[in-house]
Amino acid sequence: MDSRSLPDLETGVMRGLLRAWKQILLGLGVIFVGIQLIPVRRSNPAIQGEAPAAGQVKEILRRACQDCHSHETRWPWYAYVAPVSWLIEHDVEEGREYLNFSTWDSYPSEKRVKLFKEIREEIEVGSMPPWYYVTMHPSARLSERELGLLRGWSAEAARE
Ligand code: HEC
Repeated sequence: MDSRSLPDLETGVMRGLLRAWKQILLGLGVIFVGIQLIPVRRSNPAIQGEAPAAGQVKEILRRACQDCHSHETRWPWYAYVAPVSWLIEHDVEEGREYLNFSTWDSYPSEKRVKLFKEIREEIEVGSMPPWYYVTMHPSARLSERELGLLRGWSAEAARE
């Protein structure tokens, strides 16, 4: 039988747990610092064109879409902190691949028509801008009137 009393044993266990926690936190800290060293591409390549819109629609696209769908991305401070930076970089990369207003002029006309239709669909189902983006950028929350403007613009443009 251990000669130590119960309170002693409890203190010993607590100390052990505390030490383990400290080591885990230290480990996480080292990982966090380490992943900051992994390079992330936050490029804004040359702008070769603009969104085919004017006035209010242009302003709405700039406010709610162009961070991911153009070369005019405004990178927020947390885009410099891994692992969030990885998610943002991935979103921008993928967003530009699907629809890039900065290279709009180089799209063939069938592609433009297809994209206008897709824009209308995305607006109708409410999946763009993505909800997590709106959470971080409240100014990208579009009113019914603004959504209506985008719907009208994309429907009109798809017919031209
Ligand atoms: C936070 C980044 C982000 C913002 C802001 C954003 N998008 Fe997207 N968008 C994406 C990503 C990523 C994809 C590709 C994956 C997908 O479809 O979810 C995409 C895809 C699309 C597509 C192609 C859908 C398809 O399946 O072919 C359209 C059209 C689109 N977005 C329109 C918009 C419009 C219009 C806005 C503004 C009202 C907007 N997006 C705002 C990230 C974004």
